[in-house]
Amino acid sequence: MEILIRDTPGEVALLGASILAGRIRRHPRSILGLATGRTPVRLYRELIRRHREEGLDFSGVTTFNLDEYVGLAPAHPQSYHRYMGEHFFDHVNAAPGSVHVPDGCASDLRAHCLDYERAIATAGGIDLQLLGIGSNGHIGFNEPTGSLRSRTWVKILSEKTLQDNASHFGSPGEQPRHVVTMGIGTILDARQCVVLACGAAKSHAVKAMIEGPVSAMCPASVLQMHPRTTVIVDREAAARLDHPEHYCWVESHQLEWQRHA
Ligand code: PGA
Repeated sequence: MEILIRDTPGEVALLGASILAGRIRRHPRSILGLATGRTPVRLYRELIRRHREEGLDFSGVTTFNLDEYVGLAPAHPQSYHRYMGEHFFDHVNAAPGSVHVPDGCASDLRAHCLDYERAIATAGGIDLQLLGIGSNGHIGFNEPTGSLRSRTWVKILSEKTLQDNASHFGSPGEQPRHVVTMGIGTILDARQCVVLACGAAKSHAVKAMIEGPVSAMCPASVLQMHPRTTVIVDREAAARLDHPEHYCWVESHQLEWQRHA
């Protein structure tokens, strides 16, 4: 893993955006895996700015989002379809037909999950997967104790994740407990992963992901087995790491061609 520690969430977002933008400029037909949640909001804002002010062109990219709530229609204010429109796609020039978000209202969810996997494979596989991490170590909505080789499927949210996201919903009854999510196996197939984490609430999960054993108790720890993962964290999220100076030392000694962005 490449571990990059930055002082603030703003710097984390800028660096993440630079990695994505660099990829898109070098490879305009990139296949991107995208994430939702609080963490990537600033990254999307920066990509929108680069689109408007620097001509960053999304017309050739194809995107696949990680997950969606079961039972929330695309127009629902808390759906990830809606999130992606509001925070990103309504402001850039990605072709609507090249944007994919799982459909949590599919009449046959199992068939939809298989179709989603097939669509990723048909597109040629994901070049760069953007990820957040849950306070319990989940990636996508792959919760602790799930299979580390899972594929896109319907999963049940843990109580911890329900608590973490409860503020987005008016009452517990409105909050879906089921999701469609890319599996860990799906995520591991991406040719490059970029994980963002900010804030003290993520510090335990970040430590387990980077320095813990590979374990289904922290699904993100499986990224230790991925050949090309960059983790970008702010000081608060990095606070429990045992070896921050080592990660900074490694970064400062990277050869030019090894650099992330
Ligand atoms: P957050 O979610 O960015 O809202 O903290 C991250 C995640 O659950 O993957």
